[in-house]
Amino acid sequence: MEQKNLIIQYDEYNGNKELSKEDALLLERAVEVTKSAYAPYSNFKVGAALLLSNGEVIAASNQENAAYPSGMCAERVAIFYAHTKYPGESIVSLAVTAVVNQEQCETPTYPCGACRQVMAESQQRGGQPIRIIIGGSKIIQVVNSVDSLLPLAFNNLPK
Ligand code: THU
Repeated sequence: MEQKNLIIQYDEYNGNKELSKEDALLLERAVEVTKSAYAPYSNFKVGAALLLSNGEVIAASNQENAAYPSGMCAERVAIFYAHTKYPGESIVSLAVTAVVNQEQCETPTYPCGACRQVMAESQQRGGQPIRIIIGGSKIIQVVNSVDSLLPLAFNNLPK
């Protein structure tokens, strides 16, 4: 038996002024798109904005349903729409944030497990690491690959 360790690295920023212009703009789009969230059950409005390799930005919000499991997270709405509209493009980076009572949450809102799984496969499809910018108004954390959010991920794509 051999015990192995995983090291997960992320960069932490104190506010969006510390971010690169590109990341700050993407996070701004994520904040903006929370206005379209349909979240009457949770009141938790999530926005996701992703940058594609062709320079296009796709932004989407969470969409809930009275039958709770039928709703969909912002990240997956954005990712699936991006692959629908631009099937050949890879995702370069994705920003996610949440708004409650018209105020952006101060601390990061981490993507759920199902979204991480979908991100992992998008990353594999795209052949390049996806940067994920997890933004609060005070603290923003950035990982340089989905591997840091979902290590040891299940994947079944033929090699
Ligand atoms: N939600 C997202 O949109 N993304 C996540 O990664 C976590 C949760 C949504 C789902 C639901 O509409 C609301 O947040 C509360 O769970």
